[in-house]
Amino acid sequence: MRVIIERDYDSMSRRAASIVAELIRRQPDAVLGLATGSTPIGLYRELIRLHREEKLDFARLTTFNLDEYEGLPAGHPQSYHHFMKDHLFAHVNLKSKRTHLLDGLARDAARACAAYERRILKAGGIDLQLLGIGGDGHIGFNEPGSSLAGRTELVLLHPRTIADNGRFFDRLEDVPRRALSMGVGTILEARVCLILASGKNKAEAWARMIEGPISAQLPASALQLHPQVIALCDEAAAANLQHIDRYRHAAEVLADQSLLPANLKRKRARRRV
Ligand code: PGA
Repeated sequence: MRVIIERDYDSMSRRAASIVAELIRRQPDAVLGLATGSTPIGLYRELIRLHREEKLDFARLTTFNLDEYEGLPAGHPQSYHHFMKDHLFAHVNLKSKRTHLLDGLARDAARACAAYERRILKAGGIDLQLLGIGGDGHIGFNEPGSSLAGRTELVLLHPRTIADNGRFFDRLEDVPRRALSMGVGTILEARVCLILASGKNKAEAWARMIEGPISAQLPASALQLHPQVIALCDEAAAANLQHIDRYRHAAEVLADQSLLPANLKRKRARRRV
């Protein structure tokens, strides 16, 4: 895991955008896994700036979002469909037929989730998966106790997640109790994972993800099993890391090297669902 610590939220967001932009420039038809929540907003803002000012071209990209609340229509202000439109899709030249999100209103969720997995495979698998981390250590909506080999499915939200996300809704009771989410096993199949964390609210989960034991009690810790993870955070989120000097040293020594693998050529995903 490459651990990169930036000073604050804005520099973390700019660094994340530079990694995504490098991928897009090197592989214009890449498949991106996208995340929602407050953490990636600065990254999306910077990508929009790069599109406007430096002509970063999204036209050939394919995207798959991690998750969606059950029961919220795409037009609901708190749906992740709406979030993506607001924070990215409406501002760059992504082709809508190549942006994919799970359907929160699917009548048969299991079927919709299996179809989503097939669509990812058909696109050749995800090249770079963006992730945030929950205060409880979730990735996607894979809460503590989720299988580390899980596939896309309908999942229950943890009470802490309901409380954390309550800030976006008028009332706590309005936060959906379930969501459709890529599984940890689905996430681990991405070629590169870029996980972001900002603020002291994330410091405990962040340190356990990087330095703690691999455990279903902290689903993000499964990323220790993945060969290409960039763990990018700000100083506040890094506060509980034990080996912070080592991460800073490595970042300094490797400063002129790309964080992305040299060979981005995609291998076709082989697993059948
Ligand atoms: P946040 O959520 O970015 O709003 O903190 C992250 C997450 O729950 O994955």
